[in-house]
Amino acid sequence: MGRALTFEIFRYNSTAENDKPRIDIFQLEETPRLNVFTALNLIREQQAPDLMFDFVCRAGICGSCGMMINGRPTLACRTLTSDLPNTITLYPLPFFKLLGDLSVDTGVWFREVAERVESWIHTQTEFDPQTEEERMDNATANKIYEAERCIECGCCLAGCATAQVVPDFLGAAGLNRIGRFVIDPRDQRDEEDWFKLISTDSGIFGCIGMMACDDVCPKDLPLLEVFAYIRRKMAAIGFSKKKEKAAAV
Ligand code: SF4
Ligand code: FES
Repeated sequence: MGRALTFEIFRYNSTAENDKPRIDIFQLEETPRLNVFTALNLIREQQAPDLMFDFVCRAGICGSCGMMINGRPTLACRTLTSDLPNTITLYPLPFFKLLGDLSVDTGVWFREVAERVESWIHTQTEFDPQTEEERMDNATANKIYEAERCIECGCCLAGCATAQVVPDFLGAAGLNRIGRFVIDPRDQRDEEDWFKLISTDSGIFGCIGMMACDDVCPKDLPLLEVFAYIRRKMAAIGFSKKKEKAAAV
């Protein structure tokens, strides 16, 4: 017989009239290799048909099942109950709009950020289908590939102290998104463009270096490397601007 697990789950239906936030308690017997996502499915099938939570891939790829599991933002489908104590508390990710129970709307935030940072290659080069693909050195291609592995789960924002108090903070996911284009030699945005976009308190200088994002990112993205790269680049641009100003006086 498996362990008796107790799930303490945050419940609140934001669309139901008069619903109040509460914690509901469910019991479940642990089975081998049980993960939190499967446990939630069993609870919904057997005990709470109206329980709301999100999933698509069940394989740590889509980023939909992010939630607070025993106080830590992470993916339900990648969390084995055997790694948790007998009592498991589940809350929705903070920072994002709550839809109901464990379901939050990360899509609107990620879309707004993509528009804000103009998340596409800016180039004046005309597309010519007859030419060969542009070559790129392996090291640069690998860095871009690493940044592209973000699954937009939102765990880094949920774990970030700055994001909880600065509503327009780009957070690790937003800065990682920008870093991907700063690194890309095909993007022709110049230093002035990058400086305006990132060197603010809602950009790289809003980060206070607690690095919870790096701790909780379920895809182990090299966030610290990306931040260090952007920070150095912005500081260098800032110093050269200062020098130019001083020389003009
Ligand atoms: Fe999730 Fe990591 Fe991307 Fe943040 S950087 S959204 S934690 S995959
Ligand atoms: Fe897709 Fe968990 S269901 S990441």
